[in-house]
Amino acid sequence: MALLPILHYPDSRLHKVAVPVKRVDDKIRNLIKDMAQTMYAAPGIGLAATQVDVHQRILVIDISESRNELQVFINPKIISAEGESECEEGCLSVPGIYEKVTRAAKVTVSALDEHGRERTITAEGLLAVCLQHEMDHLVGRVFVEKLSRLKQQRIVAKLSKQQRQAM
Ligand code: NI
Repeated sequence: MALLPILHYPDSRLHKVAVPVKRVDDKIRNLIKDMAQTMYAAPGIGLAATQVDVHQRILVIDISESRNELQVFINPKIISAEGESECEEGCLSVPGIYEKVTRAAKVTVSALDEHGRERTITAEGLLAVCLQHEMDHLVGRVFVEKLSRLKQQRIVAKLSKQQRQAM
C-alpha cells in the first residue's frame, strides 16, 4: 500500500472528468486500498480518485467515528434525489477551508463495490452530502465552485498564502 499525493485546488487536474471503470480487477482493488489509506491518513471522510490524479469513477468514503467502515463506490450514479439541505463542507483538496453548501437532502445511489457487485443505497445526512461532494469531483467540480466568485477569489488567495508559508 502507498500514500498517494492529493491534488490541491486550484490545480487544473481537479477539473478533469473521470471515465467509468470497465472492469473491477486487482489493479482497481489496489488503487482502492491506496485511496483508503490516503483518506485515513489525511484524515478525511471521503476521497475521489480525481483528487489523487486518477481519472476513473471511484470513491472511498468512511463517515464512521470508529474509522473502520469503508464504503467503496465504483461508477456511482444518482438514481434519485430529493429535498434540500445546507451543510458546512471541507475538502482534502482545499485544506483549511469550510463553507456552507446546499445539496439534496436525500439521494439514492447505485454503484459497484470492490468486488464488482452492484448495490443501491439511499443516504441522508452526512453520507448524502459526502456522496454528492465526492461525485462532483468525478466530473471535475470542487465544492468551492458552488460559492460566489468573490468567495472563490478569497479562498484562492488564502490557499496561496498558506502554500507560501509552508515553503
Ligand atoms: Ni473534496
